[in-house]
Amino acid sequence: MASQPFARLRSSHGGILYGGDYNPEQWPQSVWKEDMRLFKEAHINEVTLNVFSWALLQPSEDTYDFSMLDRIVDLCKENGLKIVMATGTGAMPPWLTKAHPDVNRVGYNGEHFRHSGRENFCATSPTFLTLAPRLAGKLAEHYVQRGDAGKPDSPIVAWHVSNEYSGFCWCDRCAAQFREWLKARYGTIEKLDEAWNANMWSHTYHSFDEIDTPSGLGDGMPTPNQYVTGHAVLGGYSLDYRRFYGQQVLHEYELEKAAIRRADPTALVTTNMMGTFNDYDYLDWRTDHAGAGTGVDFVSWDSYPGLGEDAAAIDLRHDLMRGVGTQKPWMLMEQAPSNQNWMPYCYVKRPGQMEELSWQAVAHGADAVQFFQMRQARSGCEKFHSGIISIDGTDQSRTFKECAALGGKLEKLSADILATVPQAGQVALIFDWNSWWGLQFSVGPTSALDYVHEMQRWYRELHRRNIAVDVVSATDDLSQYRAVIAPCLYMFTDAMTANLRSYVSGGGRLLLTPMSALADQNDELFVGQTPVPLRKEVGVWVEETDSLAPSTPVPLVFASHAPVTNTGTASQPNGNMLFNIVHADPRTQVLATYGSQFYKGTPALTFAASEKDESGRTDLAAGIGGIMYCATMPDEAGTRDVIDCLLAGRHVREVESDPLVEITRRTAADPSGHDLVFVINTAEGARTAVAPESGVDLLTGQRVSQGQELELASFGTVIISVQ
Ligand code: GLA
Ligand code: ZN
Repeated sequence: MASQPFARLRSSHGGILYGGDYNPEQWPQSVWKEDMRLFKEAHINEVTLNVFSWALLQPSEDTYDFSMLDRIVDLCKENGLKIVMATGTGAMPPWLTKAHPDVNRVGYNGEHFRHSGRENFCATSPTFLTLAPRLAGKLAEHYVQRGDAGKPDSPIVAWHVSNEYSGFCWCDRCAAQFREWLKARYGTIEKLDEAWNANMWSHTYHSFDEIDTPSGLGDGMPTPNQYVTGHAVLGGYSLDYRRFYGQQVLHEYELEKAAIRRADPTALVTTNMMGTFNDYDYLDWRTDHAGAGTGVDFVSWDSYPGLGEDAAAIDLRHDLMRGVGTQKPWMLMEQAPSNQNWMPYCYVKRPGQMEELSWQAVAHGADAVQFFQMRQARSGCEKFHSGIISIDGTDQSRTFKECAALGGKLEKLSADILATVPQAGQVALIFDWNSWWGLQFSVGPTSALDYVHEMQRWYRELHRRNIAVDVVSATDDLSQYRAVIAPCLYMFTDAMTANLRSYVSGGGRLLLTPMSALADQNDELFVGQTPVPLRKEVGVWVEETDSLAPSTPVPLVFASHAPVTNTGTASQPNGNMLFNIVHADPRTQVLATYGSQFYKGTPALTFAASEKDESGRTDLAAGIGGIMYCATMPDEAGTRDVIDCLLAGRHVREVESDPLVEITRRTAADPSGHDLVFVINTAEGARTAVAPESGVDLLTGQRVSQGQELELASFGTVIISVQ
């Protein structure tokens, strides 16, 4: 089972890992001892080492020198710290980029980059694909030989490959390898032309040699950001380059992982992901359960909430990452102790906010809480980024004190927390990178469409009701979910169609939205009555799609039989942005209609049942399965009403709370254990919440009775051990 990695991390240390990126190589050795003292004071038990030290480890192509890292490892060992060891390949040494320019990327607009920043290697560079895994392998061999890795009680508990993989290369070699990849995928050029439907704007290819990359100099339509790809001329072309390049990056990761595993077959290997990150399909990085040992052994990710982001936006990313890890516990690899200097507004975390964000992560499945970085940098581009130890270098800063206080709490609560696992979701939200890319590459029907915002639209409403949500892939087993939401699930494969059909025919309740089920994996629209793959099951034909500016909402008029509970108290529900004009089949129930425009009175929300209950009922309240079709993007009130309909009769556990309080459960791993309910005030200012369960507040030791009013301090948390 994939939860084993965490079981091993736990048993090696017996607690929640608490620490993060530690870069002592940026400081004189005299400071290191003081670091150790302060770490102890802050209850830090882990450091992530060597994230960007390649140039120090390998001064030239034939010389490796791990002496400084050895000194750091020894010091950490002496101080009882566990280590997450990075391979250091996230940034390249200057000698490497000079001696082997093939490692350097070519940008979207054709720029030939030289030595620069980090995370900018070309993923098809033979030099990089040799030297990076070689370094990873040498490090692993070295630390296994030293006895620092490879045993159950070794200080090195996990390996961290590279750092935040990102971006693309558009060099000629990548283009050549792309052609080989296409040959393997399509076999003949005729098949490729057919897949891409290339007879458009004279794009018919007669030989694979004619194919370049869809860069900004080619078919990628211009965008101001050199790293970001724009719209596509041929969707299949741009999508295939995404898939191809993502696979090269994953291949690079796998080479480093294999090199580590050769030295230590038991090594746990991960790389830090970035949540709703567009570049690569993280679902391809999932742990391989079949035993090939590929992918990440556990998910780790870096959470950096932007100014003003609400708890739902943050939790969606946590839940997505948990979903990538097949709902197993995950590692919070990085968060900022306070401000993030690379954001437009470097807000400092408010008193209590860092702790609150940490509990949010734990509540959503994190079994480790780590930071970037341990000591604030004194120079370079990260000098204004917070560290646990601030520039004053003492234990006197607010940031240090808050980190130390949290460290103490985690230490105390470790056993209780680690005896629980993330709760199983009752509702699933389907996240699909191909659909995200397909929509992004499409020209129209509106430039206002943002795939992640569409996820948030639905997630936020479930979050407000404190419903447990799993974020899943469209081909995951859905049978356990009381409802499934597929926002803008644009691209379908046969396997996806079959999976959704079987969910619905087995009594599942599925919600589809505009831009769902429109295209195949080559971005070719399905021809026929939309949504073609599920036309029969969905019970509507989407004939046209109107797109209006945000200033032109269209009222949603709910039918009296629609199981909307908020009517009367809620504000007027409206649709926005996209308005599908649909025809409902006779058997389809119309739950809401449009209240204006020429399509006034036509269906805006429908339900087609896939079954009857024992007494022959097909209404929503009877709880029966089927497909709900929401033909527009509902506003907040509209989303609330649609979710009312979706969940009617499905017995989904909702917990009422102040909108700024979230209530999240972790379930006891062992039936004799205790569930934990996290009641979290996610904002500044005191609030109250009604205790949803009786038990003991682990943070205060006080008894809590169900129904009791809990006083939550600003960003305060109560963790009820249910008993
Ligand atoms: C990312 C990187 C870190 C550091 C932080 C700063 O997450 O992985 O190396 O640069 O950002 O917030
Ligand atoms: Zn390249």
